[in-house]
Amino acid sequence: MGYGKVYAAAAADPDGFWMDAANAIDWDKRPSKALFADKAPLYEWFVDGTLNACWNAVDRHVEAGHGDRLAIIHDSPVTGTVHKITYSELQARVASLAGALRARGVGKGDRVIIYMPMVPEALEAMLACARLGAIHSVVFGGFAAHELAVRIDDATPKAIIAASCGIEPGRVVHYKPLLDGAIEQATHKPDFCVIFQREQEVAKLTPGRDLDWHGFQAETEPADCVTVEGNHPAYILYTSGTTGQPKGVVRPTAGHLVALNWTMKNIYDIDPGDVFWAASDVGWVVGHSYICYAPLVYGATTIVFEGKPVGTPDAGTFWRVIQDHKVRVLFTAPTAFRAIKRDDPRGELVGDYDLSALDTLFLAGERADPDTIDWAGDKLNVPVIDHWWQTETGYAIAANPMGIEKLPVKVGSPSVAMPGWDVQILDEAGHPVAPGTLGAIAVKLPLPPGTLPTLWNAEDRFRKSYLDHFPGYYETGDAGYIDEDGYLYIMARTDDVINVAGHRLSTGAMEEVLASHPDVAECAVIGVADTLKGQLPMGFLCLSKGVDRDHAEIVKECVALVRDQIGPVAAFKLGCVVDRLPKTRSGKILRGTMAKIADGEEFKMPATIDDPVILDEIRDALEDLGYPAK
Ligand code: COA
Ligand code: AMP
Repeated sequence: MGYGKVYAAAAADPDGFWMDAANAIDWDKRPSKALFADKAPLYEWFVDGTLNACWNAVDRHVEAGHGDRLAIIHDSPVTGTVHKITYSELQARVASLAGALRARGVGKGDRVIIYMPMVPEALEAMLACARLGAIHSVVFGGFAAHELAVRIDDATPKAIIAASCGIEPGRVVHYKPLLDGAIEQATHKPDFCVIFQREQEVAKLTPGRDLDWHGFQAETEPADCVTVEGNHPAYILYTSGTTGQPKGVVRPTAGHLVALNWTMKNIYDIDPGDVFWAASDVGWVVGHSYICYAPLVYGATTIVFEGKPVGTPDAGTFWRVIQDHKVRVLFTAPTAFRAIKRDDPRGELVGDYDLSALDTLFLAGERADPDTIDWAGDKLNVPVIDHWWQTETGYAIAANPMGIEKLPVKVGSPSVAMPGWDVQILDEAGHPVAPGTLGAIAVKLPLPPGTLPTLWNAEDRFRKSYLDHFPGYYETGDAGYIDEDGYLYIMARTDDVINVAGHRLSTGAMEEVLASHPDVAECAVIGVADTLKGQLPMGFLCLSKGVDRDHAEIVKECVALVRDQIGPVAAFKLGCVVDRLPKTRSGKILRGTMAKIADGEEFKMPATIDDPVILDEIRDALEDLGYPAK
């Protein structure tokens, strides 16, 4: 069946379509139906089925006789090690960790925060939680103590599992002081912490609170899988919204497994036993879905790569990993390829490796620019597939479904809506617009299985952020258009979220930090175009009356403040002092107009602007910083 027929089948009979997909998952009790619409516009899937995510990701493969198959390959150029784990080994390790957590009181519904680098133990911690029905919340290692503290207070975890350190090129990231700082800042205190000691840095444990990863597993019984309801939260993953308070995206267990498993063949065209590599981080949604759950649930081999596309040791690292582990599908963000292309523009290192195993390159996380797509396709000689999704959705909304039908690629478009997704472009009044017309991208409810049913402890915010603006639709926060052939084009965010090196960041969160500087009266952060990272944050600072200190000093302090409060991942390095910010007459800062000036784009003078002269001052300040970039 081609794409059109599959899409139409899912639209005509969603229940039949997803119940059929649900057959590929092991259930303790099969659900009576797929969609539960009684609380519309809040929808849920597979509510009355029961199952366990860890069973599906690990045990069932051992039970089916595939225990010797590789589950995880940890390839770590930053430590110079490669370590392989079979499904049987993974089962033993996860059951042991789960048993130790259970012995310390962790059970179904308890939250556990995981703060770890790219080591297999991060996946094992996720799976051990899933085994017990505990809800994990992984926090990306590039976030600072304050961000971790915010998540601790929101998720109120019973336990935190962390590593002693992470390794970034040229520096060891000391996790333990960050963890200690976060727990000190947070109002909620976990009952205990489990620390995975790495040989690169052994952390000092806090007596009475911290337990050693190996030590605390000694003499405890391994745990079996605990069955949970279909809508039981598998995890909470925090993502950037418009304010400093991140949104806790909730992932329901059954829909998550059913949908991810479906994508492995239909979108990625992978078979069980194949090697699938998502070069991302477990702290992001790509890591949750495609480093951990999807490949494992499907019985494939996943790669946990602890390195960077360049500099570990060079721009040939990706090709070495593909060759050594016979990777069939590589999934990464375009920024990784821009980094490789910058270091090795002619792709000379590609020739040093045997890439014959590779079938397809998938890109997501940010706009895939045509130059990058063309370069990658030309050098690797495989299809380059852009696909579009969000933390909220957990998997692709639009893609080229390689396992159903290889549709023609249109460079600049992540292709077409996936089965189950009714994607529409709406005008401000919520009416669908004609093909080719720019508008807000929305998805007609219900969203398919596995997508967020709500935000953790914040249903009102969920409704306000996603459902209220266009009743009957989910508002994606992206703007774009659909062409005559049904191909989608993602053009921009409609909110204050920016995308830096494939990382989703909130300008609002950075503004909150800058505003806390004693000399700053008012500020604005915008995203400016960057040839490597897609966008970079840039801050405009208005100083309090009477402050006559050196402006460069103040900017330097602000840069340090953002790094300290949000973390290095914010990549906040550009700032300037201005007298005033451009605003509408009602006082709204014209961030979009400022961003257009910084990028050298045409713009229409906003009719409601209070004082157009301020734009000249902004232009001058940008010029001093070298923007628009040549
Ligand atoms: N722990 C601690 N610090 C981290 C970190 C982590 N897990 N990840 C990144 N950082 C730090 C970096 O060391 C850097 O610090 P610096 O300011 O001291 O140099 C800072 O955060 C910014 O990181 P990043 O924006 O990633 O820039 P980079 O220069 O280190 O690397 C790329 C640039 C393009 C190589 C890198 O962004 C990359 O590989 N991206 C791949 C895309 C990706 O994984 N996207 C995820 C969604 S699919
Ligand atoms: P995240 O939740 O971190 O995955 O970020 C989701 C956002 O990243 C989306 O809302 C888009 O703005 C952007 N994004 C993700 N994938 C793509 C893509 N293929 N093309 C353009 N933008 C994308």
